[in-house]
Amino acid sequence: MVKDAAELSRRAAADLLDAIDRDPAVVLGLPTGNTPLGMYRRVVATCRHAPRCFRDVRTFNLDEYVGLPAEHPGSYRSYMRRHLFDHVDVRCENMSVPDGTAREVLRQAPDLPFEEALRRECARYEAAIQAVGGLDVTYLGLGQNGHIAFNEPGSPLGSRTRAVELAPSTCAANARHFPPGEPVPQRALTMGIGTILESRRLVVLAAGAAKAEAVTRLARGEVTDDFPASALHLHWDVTVLVDEAAAAATFRRPS
Ligand code: GLP
Repeated sequence: MVKDAAELSRRAAADLLDAIDRDPAVVLGLPTGNTPLGMYRRVVATCRHAPRCFRDVRTFNLDEYVGLPAEHPGSYRSYMRRHLFDHVDVRCENMSVPDGTAREVLRQAPDLPFEEALRRECARYEAAIQAVGGLDVTYLGLGQNGHIAFNEPGSPLGSRTRAVELAPSTCAANARHFPPGEPVPQRALTMGIGTILESRRLVVLAAGAAKAEAVTRLARGEVTDDFPASALHLHWDVTVLVDEAAAAATFRRPS
């Protein structure tokens, strides 16, 4: 447990930079959302002074909205460009985000029904992860309902990258990233829980009181597909970084 969101960002950034130091060609699974913003800010600040930081790093994002073109400001690819990709020397061909429009699949097979194109895009994404030898370290945020990536409650523990429906509470929480009045996508492509569990190491980030209930449930330890993050108990190498506000309902402070 760390004091606050700033300390959490510092620890997460140090972890990520250390992973690159140990293996400059490390394969990273990367999250979006508010929680990792401080981590990315610190990584960018450090890599500005070490311009070859990301030269051989490969990255795979956890998820992306269905139907949003990569250029849309609300897309996770745009988020990644704004907060990381545009500021470090990661190579274009080494940064992967699932494509919620399946543009390349449809370019090659324009008559394909959209659902089938999404299915192929997901299969392509899984194959791309396998082709580089799998994920080494994956950083994860925690949804208030326990979702990891966009695996909502009910997601099978062995699930792979696929198209999913978002829970209404997730759409409501993410509405802040879209201009007022613009609809929030209700579907996404997400790495599956099975995909995530194959990463060699996992680092979970949770900050703020809004995550307190989810952290308590995660700490309880019961593995159930009602609470997707509980699947993390099945992994052998997980670091959970929580700040005091997120941990307040879980751990008792000595009096
Ligand atoms: C979104 C993302 C998740 C993220 C979650 C929590 O739903 N798809 O990967 O973990 O938000 O976001 P925040 O960090 O903003 O609370």
